[in-house]
Amino acid sequence: MRRSNFIRVTAGGIAAVALTQRGARAAAEDTVDYTLTAAPLRFRPVAGVEVRSLAYNGLLPGPVLRVRHGQRVRVTYRNRAGEPTTVHWHGMILPNAMDGAAGITQPAVADGGSFLYEFTPGPPGTRWYHDHYSNDATPRGLFGMFVVEDPSDEPADAEFAIVLHDVPSPNSMMAAMNGTSGAPMVDPLGSPEMRAMRAGDRMGDEVGYVAHCINGATYPSVAPLAVKVGQRVRLRVLNANQTQTKYLRLAGHRLRVTHADGNPLGRPLDVDALRIGVGERYDAWFEVRRPGAWLLQSLSSDPLAFEQATVVHSEGLAHATPEASSQALDGVDYFTYEKAAGGTLASLVEPAAQVRKHFVLAGGAYGSARWTMNGQTWPDTDKIHVSRGDTVLVRFTNKTDMDHPMHLHGHTFEIVEIDGRALRRPLAKDIALVRANGGTLTWRFRANSPPGRWLLHCHNEIHMMDGMMTEVVYNEST
Ligand code: C2O
Ligand code: CU
Repeated sequence: MRRSNFIRVTAGGIAAVALTQRGARAAAEDTVDYTLTAAPLRFRPVAGVEVRSLAYNGLLPGPVLRVRHGQRVRVTYRNRAGEPTTVHWHGMILPNAMDGAAGITQPAVADGGSFLYEFTPGPPGTRWYHDHYSNDATPRGLFGMFVVEDPSDEPADAEFAIVLHDVPSPNSMMAAMNGTSGAPMVDPLGSPEMRAMRAGDRMGDEVGYVAHCINGATYPSVAPLAVKVGQRVRLRVLNANQTQTKYLRLAGHRLRVTHADGNPLGRPLDVDALRIGVGERYDAWFEVRRPGAWLLQSLSSDPLAFEQATVVHSEGLAHATPEASSQALDGVDYFTYEKAAGGTLASLVEPAAQVRKHFVLAGGAYGSARWTMNGQTWPDTDKIHVSRGDTVLVRFTNKTDMDHPMHLHGHTFEIVEIDGRALRRPLAKDIALVRANGGTLTWRFRANSPPGRWLLHCHNEIHMMDGMMTEVVYNEST
């Protein structure tokens, strides 16, 4: 049974994909079939810019895949990309052989080849999928959102997928991998470290982007989100950028965050703006209280990033000039893990665990192509060996001057500690930013996923390709 009718595709890609609730009312068939074909695409994110890219089904981002929790999915993957690829299902707990990590859980699918991915998607929530073969610096464009509907969610009056992605200049990706990029640092927070830098200072690992997209287009050509007065609207937001944390704000509204990486928060959190690390997802709601038109936009110190915006408008106001917010982040109440966790406790009572591992994150010197965990780069990094049922604590200390979005395949972890303080309410996630300049962060998870090899890596693509990766390995006997 093809369910591609659940994906409403508009001319510009998945722009303004209305995620209707129709899927939830589908008959009791329990397998959903999709076909994903990866192939080259000439992508024009903005007038005058054309890049060679790859795309799933000719769409960039790829189609929103959607199932009800409990349904199985069968994805026929056809690789016509001209190079080896795989598909990884980010945030899903699934059989290890379906995880799509090239060289780890399956051989890469050769150009012209196919692979059948079949599993029951879960846990419920906003997940995503992307290529997992990167061993070169070609920007690939192979990613999309995957929604696993949670029947216990409050229904929304309208729902939209928002995928943030940015188009790097190919040369700058390569230069960043070598640590010799000339792209200026972008720091929306105006941190003291950044203020201390002189104009023209370079970090060597920053990627230069030529376009900043929402749902595959730039302002003002992104399809707007049409809403109605009185509606409660749910946004499912994904940051598919390769290297940068994003801050997203809707002018004239507070956002109520209900889920982090698809997992429900202990208590919803109201904020002015989302902070979304690479690979993170947030579900954010707002209520349309009056007629109007407002910009949903990225806040950044980079003026070019202003084009990462779209209009939200009520009926009849598609052509009104939208209200905008200031591009500055000063004084903006944005999402943090600590706020979502209800603040931090002064001291951490070390939870009991069978396995403990501490990683010091380092590297990234100018001119260096090494980002390290305990002084090693993949594949020589320390591995985490677990037995089924173990409680595992993984602690990170970040000795570098960049945040690192650390991600674990095939598990949901709880953040239990940040910068030496315990969280009041643990936060369930599959990827989390470890703060720069000495920040620490601890995850706790139960090793009760299907046995196998599960990658653990920084989701900044440059750092991953330069070695900041390890794995959790289940002992054979378990
Ligand atoms: Cu989004 Cu290795 O993963
Ligand atoms: Cu990193």
